[in-house]
Amino acid sequence: MIQFQIDEERCIQCGECAEDCPAGVISMEEYPVINEEGCFRCQHCLAVCPTGAVSILGRNPDKSVALEGNMPDPARLETLIKGRRSIRRYSNRDLDPALIDQLLDIAWHAPTGVNAQSVLFTVVKEKRIMNRLRQEVMSELARLKVDGKLPPGFAGQYLGGAVKSWQKDGTDIIFRGAPHLLVTSAPKDAPCPAQDTIIALTTFQLMAHTRGVGTVWDGMFMMALSVIPDLAARIGIPEDHIMGYAMVFGEPAVEYHRTVQRGRAIINVVK
Ligand SMILES: Cc1cc2nc3c(=O)[nH]c(=O)nc-3n(C[C@H](O)[C@H](O)[C@H](O)COP(=O)(O)O)c2cc1C
Repeated sequence: MIQFQIDEERCIQCGECAEDCPAGVISMEEYPVINEEGCFRCQHCLAVCPTGAVSILGRNPDKSVALEGNMPDPARLETLIKGRRSIRRYSNRDLDPALIDQLLDIAWHAPTGVNAQSVLFTVVKEKRIMNRLRQEVMSELARLKVDGKLPPGFAGQYLGGAVKSWQKDGTDIIFRGAPHLLVTSAPKDAPCPAQDTIIALTTFQLMAHTRGVGTVWDGMFMMALSVIPDLAARIGIPEDHIMGYAMVFGEPAVEYHRTVQRGRAIINVVK
């Protein structure tokens, strides 16, 4: 049941809800919804209605944030995109768990193919847990190294180097000493699982930086996940999921003062 409801007193019969419905399930002629099964729950009808007359999925349109006057300034958004840096130095403090929840809730609004909304956020919310995971991963990698079981090629080289640094002076190249970890995954049978997981992390990352939370995409942990048997299961990733990607985050112990200056984008104009 999609609970599609129209407040007759507010409805001005503009037809925007029907016009904008990507599944084409709303009709202005008949009873408003013609095919409940076809609805993919995107809430465009609720979002597009100029008078807030449409409710769907039990949502009250008056509880949505009005867009007019509330969008970010483009220049500041550009500064956010150009000023975001990978953070590889972290304070040793836990973030407020409520802030982590809020960031995840916002990332949950990232688009997903066919509006599947099936991305799983696997998160380490406490540095105590993170330190235990760090210890486990380093020990496992050290064991694989001793047994000559690290893979050949650059993954083995990078992971071997990370073990060496950890053993030498406790430098953590796998998680960059971060107090928190986020891994996205999604069911293999979702329409676009690989894309959905990356878009969710990208959204999380940008929002995190607006709140003073540093992040870095964690390819090293992805490599560790691929070589340590059962590590994915150990952190609770379901077997029928594809692994998206990992990101570590926390309070930065470094401050950047300006944007970087990249060269020109690589662009192929179709003629
Ligand atoms: C898919 C991906 C994987 C990455 N993996 C790591 C990693 O394992 N460790 C690390 O320190 N940085 C990692 N990075 C960060 C990149 O090195 C970084 O984005 C790049 O050098 C540009 O720097 P910036 O993010 O500060 O602009 C990764 C970035 C991406 C997009």
